[in-house]
Amino acid sequence: MSKLWGGRFTKETNKLVEEFTASIQFDQKLALEDIEGSLAHVEMLGSCGIIHEDDVETIKKGLLTIKEKMNAGEVEFSIEDEDIHMNIERLLIEEIGPVGGKLHTGRSRNDQVATDMHLYLFKKTKEIIHMLKSVQKAIVKQAKEHIETVMPGYTHLQRAQPISLGHHLLAYFWMFERDKERLHDSLKRINWSPLGAGALAGTTFPIDRNLTASLLGFDTVYPNSLDAVSDRDFILEFLSISSILMTHISRLSEELVLWSSQEFEFIELDDSFCTGSSIMPQKKNPDVPELLRGKTGRVYGNLIGLLTVLKGLPLAYNKDLQEDKEGMFDTVETLTGSLKLLAPMIETMTVNKEKMYQAVRQDYSNATDLADYLVNKGLPFRQAHEIIGKIVLYAIEKNKYLLDLTFKEYKQFCDLFEEDIYAVLTPKHVVEARNSYGGTAFSQVELQLKLAESKLKD
Ligand code: ARG
Repeated sequence: MSKLWGGRFTKETNKLVEEFTASIQFDQKLALEDIEGSLAHVEMLGSCGIIHEDDVETIKKGLLTIKEKMNAGEVEFSIEDEDIHMNIERLLIEEIGPVGGKLHTGRSRNDQVATDMHLYLFKKTKEIIHMLKSVQKAIVKQAKEHIETVMPGYTHLQRAQPISLGHHLLAYFWMFERDKERLHDSLKRINWSPLGAGALAGTTFPIDRNLTASLLGFDTVYPNSLDAVSDRDFILEFLSISSILMTHISRLSEELVLWSSQEFEFIELDDSFCTGSSIMPQKKNPDVPELLRGKTGRVYGNLIGLLTVLKGLPLAYNKDLQEDKEGMFDTVETLTGSLKLLAPMIETMTVNKEKMYQAVRQDYSNATDLADYLVNKGLPFRQAHEIIGKIVLYAIEKNKYLLDLTFKEYKQFCDLFEEDIYAVLTPKHVVEARNSYGGTAFSQVELQLKLAESKLKD
């Protein structure tokens, strides 16, 4: 098969080179975007009088036929044609004859591939935003049911202060909200059109870049042709946002794995989201959150991979840039696969309220409240902290919790204690007492839920 660019060559391409340089194995994912871009380009060529309207119609028809054949699975791509752009051009010429060769007037694969990537990522980013919303909805649903479910809150993975489970879950809502905002904001930059930048310097034809941009739904065009063909910031940005998002998914997954362990028994994941062991009959493994945590690694890897490819690249297009694709596709697939599972997994998990409550009842996480009690009686906080520290030590020695100490015992440590300390120490009261804005008091969590729900409206 002779190359579409073969005129200048006297020898066939080495087979190994052909295999090594081809991208069709993976860039066929851009087939629809490539046709979309070509349809806009040829329309513009016609409207600017660069090619005849009859040719425009023939080329458009040819492109649409190829699209239909592709959808019907009737198209075979070949490695000899290297990438999706050359493959489609070859198919077009086979379909409509030499007039198909007019499509590439005033265009290069360099602005063409960049256009395809922009179109692809714009679509996928919107899909991911939508999927993130479903995860947030699942979180809100669980949080709503568990406003008054009390659990230990941790610092250093040591029981710190009791909190509402709803409050804990909503912390993830806000992480995902920021991810959503970041993705949304990135659309502005994905939505620049590189089409018409040519190979690197523009074109001799009187093209209209704004026309192709508006036909394709871009907001604006790159003002610099060199930048247009060599910019991959929009992919780097997507990979960075995805890395942060995967960090959040991974932290949540880690908690779900911990909480479903026999050591915690705070939650149980639905059977349909777990797997068994080939040897140990009793096992129910949280494979899904484990794998979500694990898949974070490949997304970070894709980001570092592309940063490294771009570092030190001279302007403008270099073949290195073909390495931008696999990491991007892989990240899109990893994210969509992960988010699809995360929403129903959260929604179907069950909570062991009793276990959570017992964990709070059997610890000293109400100690801060006892210190605050003394502060309310006029003692400086530092002094109160010292006294309560001594009481905790005493209680541990006696194998008792703070609620189990007698009033007489309390009085030995400080004369300011009165009978009302026991009411202050109950887990529910401890949670309710944190009534500052954004705190864990039930009414604050309810307020927070309203705000969260308002974010999901549009
Ligand atoms: N497959 C190529 C890529 O993905 C398309 C651009 C090729 N341009 C070139 N000058 N060889 O980067």
